[in-house]
Amino acid sequence: MSFTDRLGGLGFGGDYNPEQWPDEIRAEDVLLMAEAGVNLVTVGVFGWARVEPAPGAYDFSYFDAVMDELAAAGVTVDLATMTASPPPWLATEHPEILPVTESGTVLSPGGRQHYCPSSPVYRDRAARLVEALAAHYQAHPALGFWHIGNEYGCHVSECFCDESARDFRRWLHTRYGDIERLNAAWCTDFWSQRYTSFDQILPPRLAPTYANPAQQLDFKRFSNEALRACFELEAAILRRVTPDVPVLTNFLAHHKPVDLHSWADRMDIVGLDSYPDPFWPRSHVAAGLAYDLARGAHGGDPWYLVEQAPSAVNWRGRNGIKEPGRMRLWSWQAIAHGADAVLYFQWRQSRGGAEKFHSGMVPHGGADTRVFREVAALGAELAAVPELAGTRVANEVAVLFDWNSWWALELDSRPSDGLKAVDRALDHYGPLFDLGVGVDVLPPGADLSGYKLVVVPNLYLLTEEHAGRLADYVSAGGHLLVSFFTSVVDGNDRVHHGGCPGPLREALGLRVEEYLPAAEGETFPLAEGTADLWREDVRIEGADVLLAFPDGTPAVTRNRFAAGTVRYVTTRPDETVMRAVMAEALAEAGAEPVLPGLPDGMQAAVRSGGGREFLLLLNHTTQARTVDLPHRFHHLLAPGRPEVEQVILHPRDVAVLARHSPSEET
Ligand code: GLA
Repeated sequence: MSFTDRLGGLGFGGDYNPEQWPDEIRAEDVLLMAEAGVNLVTVGVFGWARVEPAPGAYDFSYFDAVMDELAAAGVTVDLATMTASPPPWLATEHPEILPVTESGTVLSPGGRQHYCPSSPVYRDRAARLVEALAAHYQAHPALGFWHIGNEYGCHVSECFCDESARDFRRWLHTRYGDIERLNAAWCTDFWSQRYTSFDQILPPRLAPTYANPAQQLDFKRFSNEALRACFELEAAILRRVTPDVPVLTNFLAHHKPVDLHSWADRMDIVGLDSYPDPFWPRSHVAAGLAYDLARGAHGGDPWYLVEQAPSAVNWRGRNGIKEPGRMRLWSWQAIAHGADAVLYFQWRQSRGGAEKFHSGMVPHGGADTRVFREVAALGAELAAVPELAGTRVANEVAVLFDWNSWWALELDSRPSDGLKAVDRALDHYGPLFDLGVGVDVLPPGADLSGYKLVVVPNLYLLTEEHAGRLADYVSAGGHLLVSFFTSVVDGNDRVHHGGCPGPLREALGLRVEEYLPAAEGETFPLAEGTADLWREDVRIEGADVLLAFPDGTPAVTRNRFAAGTVRYVTTRPDETVMRAVMAEALAEAGAEPVLPGLPDGMQAAVRSGGGREFLLLLNHTTQARTVDLPHRFHHLLAPGRPEVEQVILHPRDVAVLARHSPSEET
């Protein structure tokens, strides 16, 4: 049985933190959970202070009662390891666990996550707790999954304390072996930064001016790995004690400090938390990018939406609600992108504490509320389509995304501070989404051989090895679209020999002589439409110019390279132009939308498995839409699952359709 169908269907539920309430409320909770179709809850995320009120004095009685009640109610538990936030006594006894900022400020307890990831004391106490927890709950019937930590690096992703400095030096020693290799990698001959011993190296603490960028980049890598080491420490214990219980953690969407690609293969299921802003009209597109990345990071396997808000969050300046229908629509969107579980933060809205204005599945007003009714209706709907669990998404187009490049691109002293990796990825993902094309978001080292088109948004940092893979992909007949300021530096932020595009020069059939960043708000006219942000002075070395600025400077080029083609976009065209550029690249690559002719604002996605193909249609607009289907499908959300050739979707509506997979038809 795969991990994702151990629930017998899609997972539905949320963080269950009953500690905030008198014990009596739990009887009502399990009744309401049944009413809402809840089958999976995350328990104990912030339970450390309760289960270990004094050093080593474990008391699991509170959670025993909760686990027993959930088991009796048939609800599976994703049991947290409770290490996300240390209890106050630990910081009092060992203030050295507290994290320190770049400028030397010690962060105090009183919020959450107040620990230095490199702290041996924190790691030791966390490991002891996890041992005790695993031993205590290993045979509990409610235990279904382990939820390790919580949103690693959400508040404290880098620590600059002396312990971190020691750990960073160890890490550097392992990476470089001798100090001369580090000096060469960091270009320390500039600004008199040459080191004669690893002992002289510090984290990039606040300095008179820009810190060494390679040092900053390595510190980001180190910090990511320090957090990951905390995860791995716990995972190793859990895998030893409960080898059959899958482990996961919940990543934040678009979270710069944590390189999901470097963590994903260390867990059984990728969990993602997603809080799209209801006030931003393109929220669902940005969410789609995060979902496709979560799936792509784990070989296309189904992933879990571990947290989303039932309605509003409380941590933006202005916190918009999810208007009627939006929570359902966005939940189904996660499933359309391959999720096998839809969970929320949190079950019951807090009555006190920092998040009391964050929505809950059961709002302050109780179950007789719009939010609870919508939650319960969705629970019933998901329970009616268990066959979706474990099915997979497959696409013909890949977009590349890389944390190393993200980290390096957004360091100080670049030609323009307007280049932000996620925004730039969205400039490419957005037109594909609008054109109805399904996308896998992958790291640059991924196997690209099955893709018809590979899109490379500004991958500023591209190693020789990864550039070589892209060139091989094209040589073998692949189609590549690359955007400006790609392949500028190597893995240590050193400019490639000969400048941009370094090892991609032959494949692109051009070189970049000078970057021409735009002034704030400056736009450049194109034959039709405009561009902004950036231009490049390009020397053509074999590529054809498909689109030029009025002065003849290339805006889009195309180069035939062996059996494939490479397009290069030297600027940021407006959305209409970018969509046309993308459409042309798709057409040449023979890549199709999921459902050709889909009305504007609609999304279609296919999941397949068990001999069936599921077509999910999502209406992201506030108008009704009619969709003619290319085949007859069973309408799974309609009573009696009728066969249909056309569906009408109301504003923000969803349709889930199924037919036998074409390959299995006689
Ligand atoms: C994160 C955390 C939760 C909660 C939510 C609120 O996702 O994991 O504990 O704070 O944010 O949106």
